[in-house]
Amino acid sequence: MTVTAQRIETARLDLVPLRVDHADEMAAVLSDPALHAFTGGAPDTARDLRARYERLSTGSPDPAVSWLNWVILLRDEGCLTGTVQATIGPCALGARAEIAWVVGTPWQHRGIAGEAARGLVTWLGGQPVEELVAHIHPEHHASAGVAATCGLTPTDEWQDGERRWLRRVG
Ligand SMILES: CC(C)(COP(=O)(O)OP(=O)(O)OC[C@H]1O[C@@H](n2cnc3c(N)ncnc32)[C@H](O)[C@@H]1OP(=O)(O)O)[C@@H](O)C(=O)NCCC(=O)NCCS
Repeated sequence: MTVTAQRIETARLDLVPLRVDHADEMAAVLSDPALHAFTGGAPDTARDLRARYERLSTGSPDPAVSWLNWVILLRDEGCLTGTVQATIGPCALGARAEIAWVVGTPWQHRGIAGEAARGLVTWLGGQPVEELVAHIHPEHHASAGVAATCGLTPTDEWQDGERRWLRRVG
């Protein structure tokens, strides 16, 4: 079953389903190479990001998998600050959402990732999903804090040097 991203509102934030025209602003938001310290890679140019957002908006080629992406709008300041995403696919229990988050360096340490991720997790609670997972580098304490505030707990499973965090829902 395909799930479609919808707008999600939290106290300070609007999670807005990602569009191709977000690419220019997001290229600036995500321009700090330090954002890739734990996940690898390097910042995309606006052109690369536009191409990536075009691919994302056409959706997953596998009908059993849904790609859901949002930009994080900080409502009072009227600016984009990062992204959250959920990839929903089959698992032994039914369906699993793999979730991830990024907040641009100038907006970090203000609880934005935690608030956005909690909003996403609450919304996912209303979707046909049995478990939530995130993969987090063991030294990445900020990301572990985000996962913990969403009710995920660390497991003993690892993938590419990252620990799997899990929350069962439903
Ligand atoms: C991880 C990330 C999204 C956190 O963004 P943020 O908006 O600064 O996070 P928050 O302000 O909501 O803080 C989240 C938690 O991390 C803690 N934290 C924030 N920055 C921290 C830091 N530099 N070192 C240690 N802890 C930190 C906060 O205290 C909070 O923990 P708590 O809930 O236990 O108090 C951001 O650092 C980022 O985008 N990093 C690069 C991309 C990335 O690695 N994403 C994760 C992929 S899974």
